Amino acid sequence: MAPADEFVVTPYEVKGRIDYVRLRELFGTQDLTPDLLARLHQISGGDLPPLLSRGVYYSHRDLGVLLDQYQKGSPFFLYSGRGPSGPLHTSHLVSFDLCRWLQKTLGVRMFIQITDDEKFWARSGLTREETAYWGMENLYDILALGFDPKRTHVFFDSRSIAALYPLAIRVARKIPYSTVKAVFGFEPSINIGLVFYTALQTVPCFWPSWAEGRSVPCLIPCGIDQDPHFRVTRDIAEGLGYPKPALLHSQMLPGLLGENAMSTTGDREDNALFLNDSHSAVERKVRGAFTGGRATVEEQRRLGATPEICSVWALWRTRFAKDDREFEEVTRDCRSGALLCGECKGRVLERIHAFYAAHAEARIKVQSWAESTIITEAPKAL
Ligand code: TRP
Repeated sequence: MAPADEFVVTPYEVKGRIDYVRLRELFGTQDLTPDLLARLHQISGGDLPPLLSRGVYYSHRDLGVLLDQYQKGSPFFLYSGRGPSGPLHTSHLVSFDLCRWLQKTLGVRMFIQITDDEKFWARSGLTREETAYWGMENLYDILALGFDPKRTHVFFDSRSIAALYPLAIRVARKIPYSTVKAVFGFEPSINIGLVFYTALQTVPCFWPSWAEGRSVPCLIPCGIDQDPHFRVTRDIAEGLGYPKPALLHSQMLPGLLGENAMSTTGDREDNALFLNDSHSAVERKVRGAFTGGRATVEEQRRLGATPEICSVWALWRTRFAKDDREFEEVTRDCRSGALLCGECKGRVLERIHAFYAAHAEARIKVQSWAESTIITEAPKAL
């Protein structure tokens, strides 16, 4: 591999310092241009959420086509998912935050896939009970972000298989082994669960079209690491008579310890803020987080700090600044040396604690209706 390519991004491995422009070229996805963002802005009729306005989402497939259809009166549904290998951390919320905003703004339906099967196959250290347990725990956290119970539907793989399987059978017949081997880089020792799994991740893209007997467009907000699955999906869509899903890709967020991208495997405990962390754990992690600050206060006052490499700035950027004005203020004061890291951490911690408190309350409330979102039967009209 050439030095410029010394990073790896697949659904099963994220490694190295990612060059996002290069990755977009390698994957053959399109640039999320200011024009497309302006269209989204216009359609939504309000301000764009920070994940869009601050560049965390940066790439797409066929978003323009989807928006054309939407404006001609053909609403899409949203689809995203989570492989439940443990507790969620704040960076996992990136796709669900955007989905929640789109659902609220456009009133569209949301389908969430919880892949307890995938994580059991992908992580030899996890038991079936564990992935199923984390599946429910993660689902509560996701729903607590503010999804509408009437417009939100869940495929919990091990429990929804009767609903998924009739379509999975047809999808699987279209995918040659050589494709998954090449796309995911599977070694011969891979278990056959993962060889089949991409068929299951594809099914929700087509499920509403199947259920309703008409073509329903699909938009998938996801980390760019998931794009390989959906390349397979898009290749077989037309052959099965379904529309190709459109995608919106986010970058992988940096960990708190400042090591390149957050790894999808073996996250170090202090590298992320898990949603089940105690008040004191959150405090300790943020206080110990890697920043773009200087060696001494004197130097920092004089030379300023570097927000772009700072993990605390990433927290402000993605979730905790209350608006663009505050975000720009923090960025400017950081760069100029007016805002020192200790104070900045104290300020962001207040926001984080407030978010955790509100989230804990919302999470209790969703537990009364979470079960009712899980689809267990093959389609009848929804
Ligand atoms: N494979 C994803 C993960 O490991 C879970 C997932 C299933 C997903 N369907 C999806 C992610 C659709 C994004 C979009 O977390």
